[in-house]
Amino acid sequence: MLKNKTIILGVCGGIAAYKAVELLRLLTRGGADVHVIMTRSAQEFIAPLTFQALSNHPVHTELFNLIGEDEIGHISLADRADLFLIVPATGNIIGKIAGGIADDMLTTTVMATTAPVLFAPAMNVNMYRNHLYQENEEKLRRHGYHFVAPVSGRLACGWEGEGKLAAPEAIFEAAVVALTPQDLAGRVILVTAGPTREELDPVRYISNHSSGKMGYALARAARHRGARVILVSGPTALPYPEGVEAVPVVSATDMLDAVMLHVDGCDAVIKAAAVADYRPEMRNGTKIKKQGDTISLELVKNPDILALLGSRERRPFLAGFAAETDNVGGNAEKKLTAKNLDMIIANDVSQEDAGFNVDTNRALLLFKEGGSHECELMTKDQLANVILDVISARLPTR
Ligand code: CTP
Repeated sequence: MLKNKTIILGVCGGIAAYKAVELLRLLTRGGADVHVIMTRSAQEFIAPLTFQALSNHPVHTELFNLIGEDEIGHISLADRADLFLIVPATGNIIGKIAGGIADDMLTTTVMATTAPVLFAPAMNVNMYRNHLYQENEEKLRRHGYHFVAPVSGRLACGWEGEGKLAAPEAIFEAAVVALTPQDLAGRVILVTAGPTREELDPVRYISNHSSGKMGYALARAARHRGARVILVSGPTALPYPEGVEAVPVVSATDMLDAVMLHVDGCDAVIKAAAVADYRPEMRNGTKIKKQGDTISLELVKNPDILALLGSRERRPFLAGFAAETDNVGGNAEKKLTAKNLDMIIANDVSQEDAGFNVDTNRALLLFKEGGSHECELMTKDQLANVILDVISARLPTR
């Protein structure tokens, strides 16, 4: 996700400095090349060696230092950065940068960079609410600096309130957003994901093997690209992606209600959910007891949510999935026409490395206007971006 990206992580002197270590691990695991700069006070809280070991680079602490033989440290780092993160950002560093002060390695490098700069502030609640602090933050925002707001909670100083560093995962997500072209900014995308569960009684249900991974990858990628994302999700074991509006549902009829409630105003609907085609005719209010050697269940058809959307006069861009085990292209094409879709993503769920419950997928994209695009085996995150490239290019300009 962050492959080939160079990130400068500036660490300041606050008790939350240890959380920058966790963030560093997330960034390097995401593929980024991270260089750490520490202020003098940061080194009171945590030793540079920790960051050096985890970033695989020497930590920069001194302004007057050469990197290699003839590179000037702060200029070289500033030029190399795709993104600058300051975590935790103290009231002091924010005040200094807002005031145009450059008197140490961190503030000098920030002043010299043209890369986006993202602050994750952490401080005492009264410092955070202080008018001077708020004016400094406001000024930096006006000049295009980004912020991940602190959260409320019990602060290290004993006070309760805003000022607690945002979770490393939330800062990571904000970093990905800052590095991703915002081609879906201003768009609203509804994604359905996961299986539906059709209950027989309070104990049992009919469902399928969908893990929700493809739908969640789509929701996350659309969010990273700037869209407002509504994720209507059946029961899965996955955490909701950061920043999406999650609407949990259980059955196909719940999903239909949720989709119809949110569809107006959407630019695109992507139906990655594996909706159960049938549900028990009746849900028993109490547990069905064991009786004879066989049992028959009467099932009735569920509404086809996608077909209902396709039949609407005014409808958003519609993308469906076709989970097939044979005649993949042929069956998908029939669904594309029958449900009046703009595109369909077909996959052969009988393959071990595609379809249900794995992190990879191999798909065939078919389009309303004809033509197709075959995607080799790739991660679901990569496929999500290929699908969104298609959608982004086809949404009407506003
Ligand atoms: N779908 C839906 N509502 C249903 C069934 C399916 O919205 N009741 C959507 C799925 O989310 C998917 C697409 O329709 O985007 C195709 O689903 P799939 O299960 O492959 O096809 P079905 O239409 O159910 O046909 P079949 O099961 O016979 O292959």
